[in-house]
Amino acid sequence: MTVLIPSRAESRPGEDEKEASLSTSVLAPTPTPAGLRPGAFGHATHLACRECGATQELGPFYACGECFGPLEIGYEFPAVTREQIEAGPANIWRYQPLLPVPTDITTSPNMEPGFTRLLRADNLGRELGLRNLWVKDDSGNPTHSFKDRVVAVALSAARELGMKVFACPSTGNLANAVAAAGARAGMKTVVFIPHDLEVPKVIASAVYTDSLVAVRGNYDDVNRLASEIAGEEEGWAFVNVNVRPYYAEGSKTLAYEIAEQLGWRLPQQVVVPVASGAQLTKIDKGFTELARLGLVEESPYKVFGAQAEGCSPVAQAFKDGHDVVRPVKPDTIAKSLAIGNPADGPYVLDVVRRTGGAVESVTDDEVRDGIRLLARTEGVFAETAGGVTVATLKKLAESGRLDPDAETVVLNTGDGLKTLDAVADLVGPAATIDPTYAAFTGTGLA
Ligand SMILES: Cc1ncc(COP(=O)(O)O)c(C=O)c1O
Ligand SMILES: [Zn+2]
Repeated sequence: MTVLIPSRAESRPGEDEKEASLSTSVLAPTPTPAGLRPGAFGHATHLACRECGATQELGPFYACGECFGPLEIGYEFPAVTREQIEAGPANIWRYQPLLPVPTDITTSPNMEPGFTRLLRADNLGRELGLRNLWVKDDSGNPTHSFKDRVVAVALSAARELGMKVFACPSTGNLANAVAAAGARAGMKTVVFIPHDLEVPKVIASAVYTDSLVAVRGNYDDVNRLASEIAGEEEGWAFVNVNVRPYYAEGSKTLAYEIAEQLGWRLPQQVVVPVASGAQLTKIDKGFTELARLGLVEESPYKVFGAQAEGCSPVAQAFKDGHDVVRPVKPDTIAKSLAIGNPADGPYVLDVVRRTGGAVESVTDDEVRDGIRLLARTEGVFAETAGGVTVATLKKLAESGRLDPDAETVVLNTGDGLKTLDAVADLVGPAATIDPTYAAFTGTGLA
């Protein structure tokens, strides 16, 4: 049996390190690793292994030198106030002190994503019996998915590390975001996608770059190819491969925004789509940081993960009570979530189990219904990933696993205009008529 992470340490030396790196005191300037300009990564101080806790200096590294475990960013945060954040720009850079980006980040061309709508969802809530429901609608980002957040942070890292090419393997949305951000930054971009993606996602990448590469294979094949190229080519920043520790931090801004938009409060339940699982784990990290920094009151929250049944390796591991995630071959209309071998799968299991949440999966028909349900109740057109998440919300509510009175946030991470085919056969004109009043009254719609 192939597993993602061969062995998982019972004790996590990294946890103490994480605690220490969240100190809120005002500290001496961050030491600058060799070759980097001072403050290149803001208040980030080091990379820490998520498996064994070993630390190493900031740089273009993503695997632990000791055990090959994945690395994540450690910080020495300064004291940060709500007022300081509120005075910042209406995009993710208002959280600059909490991200691995320099203080002058707003001066370099980037897509300025974030600060998307948090919508009260009373209609959807009524439908599902949830009395305190919100939709965080990330389709409003510049390339219409949450990926603009992670790419903006990765772009900063690529620049600071002196990388020459901005690249990614992608299930579609990331390709759009990388191609656009690279164009805006004046960087060469090379973007790799599976050959069978939805046409709008292919076009919405190719319009920004001449270097879109369609690979005959699924996302996991594309990802393996990208890792190989990253190992061979000098100066290539594959956002979700060799600059992944920086990239992933961008998803923390979803947590920061949700809390700030709720009036500096953590929600009690949050439902998040899972592909690689990075977004879910970073939303948890974001909530934890806000509480430890005193920006919100510490309060319990449950994190729920959503997958499509045709690619549900994490939901399966959760149901089976396993710590490891067995890779699958994806077969679902939710192509943006079609990662059969999710890098952060085991960490998703950690988060949902620690917080008392769950990972659930839904069929493609439920995904289509989820898209229509959100559209017809709240006027939000989600792509298939949002359909997965709303359908999962429904399933969790119906099975009593969500507290109907708890403040609940469901994420829509992408725009329905990118996956029109998912619902094309299910919706359309109620009637096609001649341009006469009589013909109209004949439809019964008056
Ligand atoms: C629209 C959308 N939502 C959610 C995800 C899941 O993100 P992650 O890989 O961080 O789990 C993706 C990933 O491509 C996506 O495109
Ligand atoms: Zn390690």
